[in-house]
Amino acid sequence: MLKHTKIKPSYIEAKKRTNNKVKVLTDLYIMNNELKNIGINKKYVVITYGCQANERDSETISAILEDMSFVKTDNLEDADLILLNTCAIRENAHNKVFGMLGRIKHLKETKPNIITCLCGCMAQEEAVVNEIEEKFKWMDVVFGTHNIHNLPKLISDAINDNELIIEVFSKEGDVVENLPVKRENKYKAYVNIMYGCDKFCTYCIVPYTRGKQRSRKLEDIKCEIQKLIDNGYKEVTLLGQNVNAYGKDLENGVTFDKLLEEVAKMKIERIRFVTSHPWDFTDQMINIIKTYSNVMPYVHLPVQSGSDKILKLMGRRYTKESYLKLAKKIKDTIPNVSLTTDIIVGFPNETEEDFNETLDVVEKCKYDSAFTFIYSKRENTPASKMEDKVPLEVKQERLQKLNELVNKYALINNEKLVGTILPVLIEGESQKGNNLYAGYTDTMKLVNVKCNKEDIGKIINVKIIEAKTWSLNGEKVDE
Ligand code: SAH
Ligand code: SF4
Ligand code: F3S
Repeated sequence: MLKHTKIKPSYIEAKKRTNNKVKVLTDLYIMNNELKNIGINKKYVVITYGCQANERDSETISAILEDMSFVKTDNLEDADLILLNTCAIRENAHNKVFGMLGRIKHLKETKPNIITCLCGCMAQEEAVVNEIEEKFKWMDVVFGTHNIHNLPKLISDAINDNELIIEVFSKEGDVVENLPVKRENKYKAYVNIMYGCDKFCTYCIVPYTRGKQRSRKLEDIKCEIQKLIDNGYKEVTLLGQNVNAYGKDLENGVTFDKLLEEVAKMKIERIRFVTSHPWDFTDQMINIIKTYSNVMPYVHLPVQSGSDKILKLMGRRYTKESYLKLAKKIKDTIPNVSLTTDIIVGFPNETEEDFNETLDVVEKCKYDSAFTFIYSKRENTPASKMEDKVPLEVKQERLQKLNELVNKYALINNEKLVGTILPVLIEGESQKGNNLYAGYTDTMKLVNVKCNKEDIGKIINVKIIEAKTWSLNGEKVDE
C-alpha cells in the first residue's frame, strides 16, 4: 500500500523571509494518461471562500480537475469530488468552512467514495490542520496555496491510500507558470500580477498563508492578457495583495505604473487593479489612470482606520493626514473617479476618539462604497498578542454607526448619477428578473439595465434612472 508522507504547515516557516531569489517554475504541472482518466464519469464541486486571489485559484483548480476528466456540477449531492477552497482572513470565514465540513461528513457517510479536499488559506494554518487530523480524519486531501500544481497526484494518492493526505508547504514560494485555467466569466477575467505579501500588517494572516511577495514577469502577464483579448474578453483585473509593490522583487526595473501603462497599450477595453496600498501609491500611477481611457477610474484604497495611533499599531505605514492628501489628489486628478475602501473597527483598544477619527475619514472621503469589518483575532499575528478591553457589543455598535455613514455617502454619490449616461459592461441576466440585465460601470457600480439579450458581453451606454445604496437602475440608450 502506498504511503504518502504528511507535510504539515509550520507557523515558524511561514513567517520567514530571506533574500533567496524567487524561481519561476514552468514545468511543475504534470498530467499523464493515468491521471487523465481518474475523473471519468465523475463530477466535481469547488466551493470558494475569500478574495479574488482565491477565486482565481479555484479557476485553476477547476481546470486541473477537468484535465483529469471530472465534470462540473453545482449540486453537492451529485458530486464525486468536493473541494473547499478556504479563506482565513476572519473568524467567520473559518466558521463557515467548519460548518460545511459537518454537512460533507453526512454525505461521506452515505457515499464513502466521495473524495473530499480542503485547500486555500486555512490549510496553511497549523491549528486548522491539527483540528482536521483530530476531528475530520475521514477527509481525503488537505493541500496548501503553494501545492496546487500537485493536485492530480494528491487525488491519485488519496484514491490508492485510505489515509488523509496532507501536503502543505510553508515557504516563501515561487512563481508557478503554465497552470491551466477555466474562467468563470466570459467577458472579464482576473490576472495575477503578483503573489504573497510582505507588508505584515499586524492583524493580517495573509503574509503567512500566501508567502512572500513575488511578481510575475511582465511578458507572462502580457501573454495571459493577449490570450484573453484573442478570446474576446473585455475586461481584466490585475490582482495582487498590494499592487503598488509590483516589480520591487524583480531586477528589470519594471514598476506597477510601467506595467499598467504596458497593459493599457494593449487592445483590452477595461483594466482594473486590486488592491492598492495607500503607502507607495505614486503620482505616476495616478497619471496613468488619468491618461489611459481603458484604465478604469476606480480606486480601491483600504484605509483600515482613521486614527494615527491605531494605524501605527496596525503597521500600516501612513497617517490619516497622508491618506487624506492622497485621496484628495486622486479625486482632483482623475475625473469622476470612484473611491472605495476597507475599514476595520474594534482593533485592540480602539477608543471612541480613535473611532471618531475613522468616521471623520469617511466624512471627508465620501466613499462610493466600503467593506467594513469588526477586527477578528488571527492566531499567531502580532495583534493577537495585544490586550483588548473593548467589549464586542461596543464594536458592533461602532460597526453599525460606520455602516450608516458609509451607506449615506454611497446613496448620495449614486443619486448624483441619475440622468447621466454611463458605459456598462453587460454580464448577464439580473438577479432582479423582469427581463433586466446586470453589469458594471467603468466606476464599478452595479447597474440593472433594461436592454436586450444580445447586449450581453458588450459595453453599452446606459441612462441612469434610479439610484439605490448598492446599485443603480437604468436603460440602454442608442449611441
Ligand atoms: N491586501 C489588501 C487586503 C486584503 S484582506 C490590503 O492591504 O488592502 C481584505 C481586508 O480584510 C483588509 O483590507 C482588511 O480590512 C480586512 N481584514 C484583514 N485582516 C483582518 C482581521 N484580522 N480582522 C478583520 N478584518 C481584517
Ligand atoms: Fe494583509 Fe496588509 Fe498584506 Fe493587505 S497589505 S494582505 S492587509 S498584510
Ligand atoms: Fe482570505 Fe487568503 Fe484571500 S485569507 S482574503 S483567501 S488571501
